Amino acid sequence: MKNETITFIGAGNMTAALIGGMLAEGLSAKQIWATDIDQNKLDALAAHSGINVTTESDKAIAVAEVVVLSVKPQVMQSVCETIADAVKVKSPLMVSIAAGIQTTTLNQWLGASLPIIRAMPNTPALIRAGATGLYANAFVTEHHKGLAENILRAVGIVLWLQEEKQMDYVTALSGSGPAYFFRIMEAMEQAGESLGLSHEVARLLTLQTALGAAKLAMESSNDLKTLREKVTSPGGTTEQGLQQMDEHDIDELFKATLEAANKRSQELAKQFGES
Ligand SMILES: NC(=O)c1ccc[n+]([C@@H]2O[C@H](COP(=O)([O-])OP(=O)(O)OC[C@H]3O[C@@H](n4cnc5c(N)ncnc54)[C@H](OP(=O)(O)O)[C@@H]3O)[C@@H](O)[C@H]2O)c1
Repeated sequence: MKNETITFIGAGNMTAALIGGMLAEGLSAKQIWATDIDQNKLDALAAHSGINVTTESDKAIAVAEVVVLSVKPQVMQSVCETIADAVKVKSPLMVSIAAGIQTTTLNQWLGASLPIIRAMPNTPALIRAGATGLYANAFVTEHHKGLAENILRAVGIVLWLQEEKQMDYVTALSGSGPAYFFRIMEAMEQAGESLGLSHEVARLLTLQTALGAAKLAMESSNDLKTLREKVTSPGGTTEQGLQQMDEHDIDELFKATLEAANKRSQELAKQFGES
């Protein structure tokens, strides 16, 4: 990102995380604008980060090469219709981080044929450990892709998708994924307590084990199956524990979990598209 100016529409949690990451990567605060309906939120963000803020979205869009749509899906249509004239003048790259809203729907609301990149980050982006799926529509250039990568890479890893329908799969896997791991960790913590550990000991052992396992898998050249086999000695404790997981068909559980989340993502996309 050299001299491009980026404008965020919506100054909420995700915008604050992305801006924090971009500044930490060395981007100048002068290159970043944020607009919101809430002046207090903008003032807090400006005080914390030094970026430019305004409640007048047209003013912030007029200077932008990239406009990041960072509002809740429920208000996206009215936001797009409000900014439509300003974006038509400038034709910036649009980056939407709202779940479920398709690029054709966004262009319909904007009344234009703009380059749009959809991004599906997840909540660990708030601590710069996110995983983001990206999809580009047909108007996006390689230069645009580099700009979007620079924004999202500041808060974690990014992966490009070839088909827009894969955004629903990403939503089901990594978008909702942190909640699945929280649920598994809750169950492990409770099971540790049931065995007789204190809440605090069970909690910390669970969290550090999850963190360590993910870090080991990320840094290892072994696949997950090999890593699992390496900690499973024949006749040992892990083997007995894993046998229970297989008897309760953990593969089927996760297949059903992701299928249900994917189905809901598709339903929501359809609902927004029709609104
Ligand atoms: N948080 C995540 O981990 C995560 C992950 C993936 C995707 N996303 C997506 O990222 C987007 C932003 O999420 P968030 O968590 O940052 O939401 P958020 O904290 O609610 O931020 C959205 C901001 O936009 C403001 N806003 C509402 N209407 C507006 C308008 N007409 N013009 C300008 N600003 C307006 C909101 O103000 P009010 O609060 O006054 O309404 C709020 O400050 C959402 O679409 C969400 O689905 C979030």
